[in-house]
Amino acid sequence: MNSHFQLDNPNLGKEDILYHIGLTAKDDLQSMFQDVKFVCMGGKPSRMQKFAAYLDDKLGKPKTSRREKGELLDISGSAGRYSMYKAGPVLSVSHGIGQASLSVVLNEVLKLLHYAKCNKDVIFIRIGSSGGLGVEPGTLVITDQPYNSTLEPVFLHISLGRSIPRPCSTCPDTRRELLNCSKNLGIPAVIGNTMATDDFFEGQCRLDGAFCDYSDEDKMNFLKRANQELGVKNIEMESTCFSAMCNRANVKSAVICSALLNRLQQDVVDATVQDMDKWQQQSFEVVAAFISNTVNDNVVS
Ligand code: URA
Repeated sequence: MNSHFQLDNPNLGKEDILYHIGLTAKDDLQSMFQDVKFVCMGGKPSRMQKFAAYLDDKLGKPKTSRREKGELLDISGSAGRYSMYKAGPVLSVSHGIGQASLSVVLNEVLKLLHYAKCNKDVIFIRIGSSGGLGVEPGTLVITDQPYNSTLEPVFLHISLGRSIPRPCSTCPDTRRELLNCSKNLGIPAVIGNTMATDDFFEGQCRLDGAFCDYSDEDKMNFLKRANQELGVKNIEMESTCFSAMCNRANVKSAVICSALLNRLQQDVVDATVQDMDKWQQQSFEVVAAFISNTVNDNVVS
């Protein structure tokens, strides 16, 4: 049986240009990327650069990291859309805000792994930020079931003028291991369901966007229903698309997000930069511990 990661689109070929990440199928992708075993993604380029640098140190500056003049190289910098770094067996890639931006780069990263003939057991992890529902700011929420903004457990994918419900689920082994790593590090974390929306304001029931035609009571009723009836513990903008695309590509996925605020109490993100940096760093520590354990012990089969 073939142990390479393979996409089953028959239209893929040597002429392919991975336009948004500044690579082509003609580059020697196999020698550059074949050892990739983890793809970590998050919205901000700076977050993914910091994560790559942290991991590079943690893994003992592996020879297989991609550097230029001693610094980790932004492999996709020339394309000007996303940032991508390679620290040992880990790709650290920014995806911008929301499912549209994420789906573009995720398509190209999946094709990159296909052309590079990476191992089929590659694991995808989104490291993000979110609004918590009934959890303390600073808590890491590890996604169990992603829900869309109408509270269905699917990603609604529009293609050829049709809306196609794509199943979205995260890997149970990976989320359990992430929770164990958080516990071992003394970092507050919970496993819960996540609602992914298409915008930050009305899509997430905020009252303080440019527009609002519902009351505070309507907002609270909806948020409480999501929290109490469906176990939704945080709201962000990518988990349905991310997990559905990973499911479709037959790779394991996990989503771990810091809760920046408790949406049952407020709409405004007023956490200090210092707090947000601390929570981001804690998410790095948990994911880095997971990666080290997995590389060393092969915990996730
Ligand atoms: N990211 C979101 O999508 N929502 C929040 O409330 C905070 C961060």
